[in-house]
This record gives sequence, structure tokens and C-alpha cells, in this order.
Amino acid sequence: MIVQSATLPIHECNADALILALGADWENSPTITDLDSRMSGRLSKWIRDGEVLTKPMKTTIVLSPVGLQAKTLILIGLGKPGIGKTGLGKTFDGTASDIDSVAGVAFRAAASGAKIASQAKTRKTIAFAGFGDCLGQEPLAMQSAVAGSVTGGIGQDLFKAESATAPAETIFWYDVSEEILQEGKAVGESMSLVKRLVNLPPNYLYPESFVKEAVAVGAEAGFQVEVWDEAKLIAENCNSLLAVSKGSTRPPRLCIFRYAGNPSNSSDSNNQGTETAPIALVGKGVTFDSGGYSLKPTDGMLSMKCDMAGAATVLGILRAATLLKIRQPIIGLVGLVENMVAGNAMKLGDVLTARSGKTIEVHNTDAEGRLVLADVLNVALDYSPSKIIDFATLTGACCVALGNDIVGVMSNSNDLQKGLLDTASNVGEYAWPLPMFPYFSEQIAGKVADIKNVGEGRWGGAITAAKFLEQFVDEKPWVHLDIAGPAFLDSPKSWCDAGGTATMVRTIVAMLSK
Ligand code: BES
Ligand code: MN
Ligand code: ZN
Repeated sequence: MIVQSATLPIHECNADALILALGADWENSPTITDLDSRMSGRLSKWIRDGEVLTKPMKTTIVLSPVGLQAKTLILIGLGKPGIGKTGLGKTFDGTASDIDSVAGVAFRAAASGAKIASQAKTRKTIAFAGFGDCLGQEPLAMQSAVAGSVTGGIGQDLFKAESATAPAETIFWYDVSEEILQEGKAVGESMSLVKRLVNLPPNYLYPESFVKEAVAVGAEAGFQVEVWDEAKLIAENCNSLLAVSKGSTRPPRLCIFRYAGNPSNSSDSNNQGTETAPIALVGKGVTFDSGGYSLKPTDGMLSMKCDMAGAATVLGILRAATLLKIRQPIIGLVGLVENMVAGNAMKLGDVLTARSGKTIEVHNTDAEGRLVLADVLNVALDYSPSKIIDFATLTGACCVALGNDIVGVMSNSNDLQKGLLDTASNVGEYAWPLPMFPYFSEQIAGKVADIKNVGEGRWGGAITAAKFLEQFVDEKPWVHLDIAGPAFLDSPKSWCDAGGTATMVRTIVAMLSK
């Protein structure tokens, strides 16, 4: 998809669809005023008559608009902070994710309309205008609008002859600086990458094919990718990770991504000091989770291609951070395995010796994510990171606790946790803390080995899982993001298709850019 600045005046724009943002303050928008007069006052009349709504996410489609060259005009409400609702029933507050959703809704209206209008999918070019007036050219808001326009059309129907959303070939943007346009494109395309990897079926995406994608992304964006194969994992004593992959014919991998940081980036205000230690981002990459001998039932297993969303998120963030040339050095580490059943698969009661030396009793082969992360977190420590953030579709219990749309946040550091929650709130992504009271650790004490891989019963399952991970981060400030709910949607929302969502990419990119 090509994303570029528009050059023709808006009324001469001959795109297949022209998307025009209408804020609550539309009467003071020079863009709207100009187009309204070219449309002989129709636009303002429609709004005053209540035929066209300026509320966020409300779309109105005008075919063959008189006075304009565009084939279709799509009016999209952008409201203003405090007025109207967005995504998850919340009041529109102008956060990055709200604006990104508005642009996504508009893109989907344009792209799906093409399918209805013609099998030939005529809407190949889509132009966005009017956002700069509504958003006062605020850089983060404009960047989010561009990102939303780029990633809004990503669908899960990768293998359908007729895709529901016809991806546009070119997106034109009015009124946005080249710098912001490129940043928005970088973030949007990185989110699209995460969604695509999550949406790929498990017979297409497995440890080796994930590595292939990662190597290509690293080469394109400009960060280093180191790959540990099975022999290296054995040599490195990653026995906990290896135990999970034993039952699969697909060999495991561990990938290390290195972004050195850009000390000359002075627009990132917070890190002007001497901080040169990298931040470590760790991802769970179970490319398919059958549950192993603690086999999942069909319903629970069907969506388990999404169990590598944490690894995809780490890759997406590395890509965006590299293209945005952020100051903060980053080290990304992902553990890639398939959790399967076979004669030589991991069994209940097995005792594993993790890379750190800790011994683990396996009480449930479906609690495999923490076994993978135990070793990946330990490898992360080798790079002396200042802090660690991990991303994992770790527990169904987290969805029971918080629902499907909220990221569970667990940490050993109040400061780090607060920083993350504040950034998520500013960006408009939903994340919420779960308490890490010490007594939860007692539940994972082992009888035969140091620890066991589940708690006592199901209660507090998201937290006992986090307590298990905490055993492998030494005393480093660390925050664990359980994305089991929000990483993958079973049904579509107005601003995005079902499937992968790229949750937390925006929040972490914002946090690292500070
Ligand atoms: N990958 C699953 C968690 C999951 C569930 C992700 C639903 C996305 C949607 C994880 O490996 C798992 O199976 N966890 C178990 C842990 C239990 C056995 C202690 C769970 O949540 O049931
Ligand atoms: Mn599992
Ligand atoms: Zn899993």
C-alpha cells in the first residue's frame, strides 16, 4: 500500500473515495468552508438538518458528490473530546486510539463499499482530508489518524477469493507534514504486521516461518536479528522451553532482535540522560497451543494460532521503534514453539531444569507459555536490561478477571507499572493492574521440585502465572502484560476486523518514545 501526501486541491481530488472529517467545530474549519461553497452549501445544510452527524465514528456516504471530482465522498464524524462515544462505549476523548479508530471506521466504510459497488473493487485510491483542522495539527493525533487509515482495513480473511475489505492501493493524505505521515505509516504498518502474523493459520506460521518473517522485517527496518536453533537452545540449557516443543515435529527457535537506539534523537524528552542500557521486550511465541497432554477441547483450541501474539507484538514494536528512530535502545526476545501431543511430548509430572537452574514440576502441559518465558526471560537478563516488559497470551483466567478487551498488568515495580498504565490511558488502550500480593507465590511451591507450573486450583490464575514468571527476572524492574483477551477478537468491531488486533503496540511505542 502506498501512503503519500496529496497534491491536487481537495475539490480536484479524483480519488475513488474522499474521506472528509467533520468535527463538532466544523463551521470553523477552512477545509469544510471551502468544500461547502463548492458544493453550493449542501454540506452545511445536511449537517444543520441533522442528515449528517458530526459525532465520532458516524459515517455518511455521498455518491457522485456534485462540485467535487472524487467518485464518492465519505463524511466521517470526529466530534470533539467530551462529545460522543467511540470504540468500547467510552466517551470520545481524542486519545490516539480513539482517533485511530475513527480513521479505521472511515477506511472500512470506503473499502467495504467497493465490494458492494462492484466485484472489480473500484475504490483503489482513498484520500483523507479535514483531519488537520479537527485535530489542530496535534502531532500525535495526526500520526494516529494516519496509522488508523493504514491498518484499519487489515482483515482476517487472508485466504478468501473475495476479501470483504478491498485493500486500497494508494492512500492520499491532505494537510499532514511529511514527517508525521511517515511516522503514522510506520506505526500503522507495524500494527498491520502484528495482525497479519496473528491471523496466519498455524500450518503457515510456525517457529521457522516466524523466523523467516522476522529476518525479513529486521532487514527492511534496520535492526539485527539473531536466531537460536534447536542445537543452540540445547547448548544454552533452555530445557524449559525445549520441553514444550518436544511433542512437535516443528523445531523451536529463539530470536533476539537488537535496536541500538538513536542518541541524536532529541525529540524524545525523557531519555536525555545517560541511560544507555536497553529495555528488554519479551514475547510468548506459541505458534499453536493444543494444550499438550492436558489437551484443550475443540472450542478452546480453535483460536490457538493466536498464542504467538506476544512474539508478534515484540517484532512489531521493534519495527516501529527502528523506523521512528527512537532514542531508547531495545532488545527483543521471542521464544517460538508449538505445543503438541506425541509419544515423546512433555508429560504431567515431568521435572524440568530451566536455564536459570530452577527446577519445575509440570502439573499441566497447557500452562506452557510460562515454561517458554522462563527461559526467554533468563536469556534477557544476559543483556543487562534496565527493565523488562513481557507480552503473552498467558491465561484464560485473565479474561475471566477482566473480560476480553482489557490487558492484565502485573509487575514487581510500582513505578514501572504506573508509567505503563499512565501511557496506556493517554493512548486510550485499556489496561488494568492485578495485585501481586506475596502469598500468591506460595501457591506455586513445588513438592518434588522448586516450583510447579500452576497454582492451587483455578483462582487467581492470571496472578499465579505472573508469580511464576517473576521467579525468572531476578530483581529487575519488570512488567508482565497478559494479552490473552485483547490480542485476538472473535467478532469484528466497527473499526477493525476480527482476528489479531496489535494491542499494546501504540502504548509501548509511546512509552519508549518519551
Ligand atoms: N494460551 C493459553 C491462554 C489463552 C486462553 C490465550 C484463551 C488466549 C485465549 C495458555 O497457554 C493456557 O492454556 N493457559 C491455561 C493455564 C492453566 C492450565 C493453568 C488456561 O488459561 O487455562
Ligand atoms: Mn496453554
Ligand atoms: Zn498458551
